[in-house]
Amino acid sequence: MILKDQVALITGAARGIGKAIAARLAREGASVAIIDIDGEQARKTALELECELLRAVPYTCDVADPGEANKVVKKVVSDLERIDILVNNAGITRDGLLMRMKPEEWDLVFAVNLKGAFNFIRSACRQMLKQRAGAIVNISSVIGLIGNAGQANYSASKAGLLGLTKSAAKEFAPRGIRVNAVAPGFIETEMTAVLPEEAKQGWLASVPLNRAGSMEEVASAVLFLVGPDSEYITGQVLQVDGGMIM
Ligand code: NAI
Repeated sequence: MILKDQVALITGAARGIGKAIAARLAREGASVAIIDIDGEQARKTALELECELLRAVPYTCDVADPGEANKVVKKVVSDLERIDILVNNAGITRDGLLMRMKPEEWDLVFAVNLKGAFNFIRSACRQMLKQRAGAIVNISSVIGLIGNAGQANYSASKAGLLGLTKSAAKEFAPRGIRVNAVAPGFIETEMTAVLPEEAKQGWLASVPLNRAGSMEEVASAVLFLVGPDSEYITGQVLQVDGGMIM
């Protein structure tokens, strides 16, 4: 139980990769705050974890809203008494060719994927600074590293997360807070389930390990980056992509 007595906030944790991360951290002893815009699903997920005798508390929040983020972080501190870990996982896509992309589609993807992480880092760092310790992981994407036709907004937001990760890592290092990013490749989730079969096969052809990744494999990378085995690692991007990019 390497995270015993620790408190972890995970955004977008009602389903998918965020849920897998929450479950993994909880099984290592952390109390987890399940933060999601889908409050009903967040409650179901927290209940599922509680049935495993893990400590999980659901919170409804749109990460794009700085006021809501601040309120939820305060509520977590009052409910669970500390914040040791923050995982900025909430993310969305609004794909389309640049020429046809609506400014609102650009803004919404940035508001959730990038500003959402800024909102939570800004609010949660106060408690971490008080504790003089903390670990933050931002979930980026390989698309933030290599770009992708039809995903200019998503790619730019995920690349932006890497700049945010490195700047925050430099800013917080003297105060004992580490900040890293995980860049998943092609992972089997509800987000990728909706892709056309042809697109899936195209992506898989570029993976040397010759298969899609699982949510649990992303969760393992996050656990490493928030746990005691990575205490000398900050400002890094860990790719979980089967060798897609090297
Ligand atoms: P998903 O769509 O299955 O889950 C995303 C969760 O975030 C949902 O529970 C949703 O309700 C929540 N969410 C959406 N907007 C929100 C908001 N404004 N405020 C709070 N919560 C919000 O997605 P998935 O596949 O689990 O992805 C999780 C993260 O991993 C995302 O950041 C995604 O960009 C990233 N990623 C996923 C990959 C994949 O292959 N699935 C590959 C690379 C990165």
